[in-house]
Amino acid sequence: MPKSKSKTSSSTPRRARIAIAIMAAGKGTRLKSKHPKVLHEIGGKPILAHVIATAQKVVPACDIFVIIGHEAEHVRGTVAATGVNFVVQAEQRGTGHALMVAREALSGYDKVIVLSGDAPLITAETIKKLSEFHSAQKAAMTLLSADLDHPYGYGRVIRKGRGVGVRAIVEEKTASPQQKKIHEINSGFYAFARADLYEHIDRLSTANEHGEYYLTDMAGVFHRGRKKVVAIKTSDASEVLGSNTRAEMMMLDAQLRLAKCRELLEEGVTIFYPHTCVIDSDVEVGADTVIEPFVQLLGKTKVGADCRIRSYSVIVNSEIGDGVTVKPGTIMEDSRVGAGAVLGPYAHLRPGSDVGEGAHVGNFVETKKMKLGKGSKANHLSYLGDAEIGAGVNIGAGTITCNYDGVNKHKTVIEDGVFIGSDATLVAPVKIGRGAYVAAASCITEDVPAGALALGRARQSVKEGWVREKREAQKEKRR
Ligand code: UD1
Ligand code: CA
Repeated sequence: MPKSKSKTSSSTPRRARIAIAIMAAGKGTRLKSKHPKVLHEIGGKPILAHVIATAQKVVPACDIFVIIGHEAEHVRGTVAATGVNFVVQAEQRGTGHALMVAREALSGYDKVIVLSGDAPLITAETIKKLSEFHSAQKAAMTLLSADLDHPYGYGRVIRKGRGVGVRAIVEEKTASPQQKKIHEINSGFYAFARADLYEHIDRLSTANEHGEYYLTDMAGVFHRGRKKVVAIKTSDASEVLGSNTRAEMMMLDAQLRLAKCRELLEEGVTIFYPHTCVIDSDVEVGADTVIEPFVQLLGKTKVGADCRIRSYSVIVNSEIGDGVTVKPGTIMEDSRVGAGAVLGPYAHLRPGSDVGEGAHVGNFVETKKMKLGKGSKANHLSYLGDAEIGAGVNIGAGTITCNYDGVNKHKTVIEDGVFIGSDATLVAPVKIGRGAYVAAASCITEDVPAGALALGRARQSVKEGWVREKREAQKEKRR
């Protein structure tokens, strides 16, 4: 339940109680998808999550209600952690019906701001402007409008004279050829006087192309009931774009990502060819870091200052310290890298990798649930899984931790200062003590004490003159 508002004394005017209702119950038929529209991702997170995050930025804070219906539990589960309230619209009979269903939930409020769960570029400032304009106009309904070069598909705003007044909103399907020429569209964002909305909402009808209750028809209903309907136009029309089709979604995605790059550039990050980079909304990058073309920084990734992230690297939900070099083609997921470390080219850090300060993970090295200590190096062609590796360790080329016995995973412990020769296989569970040496090509199945040399390979034997003797024997045969 929303927080109850504290009582104010009668001498000071009471602040209006404002609710934000986000309509997110629709199926999104035009996407031809088995997933609900509002859960499709753009800019690396569900469309609805963007709208909720924006609603939460509106000041003064409002109670937020998300109206869910199609795949309600899936939608609820995806965004529940944001702490919003939910209203279930079990049957989706239109945007007007969505608000009818929310009648009870919204009963304690003075003003209701309505947002579309499928239009994620709206900003908190614009919502605030809409809300303030509504209050200043003392309107029953205020809609946010925009001038679009290509208004096709949107409801058109039929103005009342030259002022701010609105007579009606007509949907694309019912608009006359003359009305279709109007470029001022309805954004699907509104502010309503709650009492007026629910006094009049039952006048909506389903007598339209879709047989739905259109919230947009409230403009005409209020107009006929001599209630004030006004529109405020956005200065930035791109903020109101909806995502009804996959093509529209990809356009919004591109916009969001370019906006993200612009924000990072502002903050002192160099990004070459920003339109080739995919950087999710929540990613953070420190100043003087350089991002080369075709880099993806996804999820909750944090990159420090003074790093260089080279081309074709894909970094997901990971934390990179200051001054790290990520060479081309590095893949990293749910991992951490300390300051000054060097990764790649073509390193693969799987979940739970923790690379220490100044450490190196080089070409074709795969790591998983692994801690590599300060200054340690694994430069070539290794698999290091379920391993705890100390500081100042050298892992020779081709070293493999054999962590899996076909049923269970086992741990390899390599203490500080150890030298593992190339092509060693370390059969876990196994421990290599501090400062020990493991000879190249050894198969290590038993613990190695600190300071020892472990050899686990067949002794080399040399047969002098063997090749010449073999050839002569063959020649003899042929005769
Ligand atoms: C709506 C407006 C249109 C406006 C456009 C702006 C109506 C009738 N039309 O059209 O004037 O130009 O937005 O983007 O409102 N939803 C529910 N319950 C329902 C139906 C829809 O919650 O029963 C939700 C959808 O999930 C969506 C939002 O309402 O998030 C808008 O619905 P949608 O079908 O996308 O409306 P548009 O056709 O885009
Ligand atoms: Ca829409």
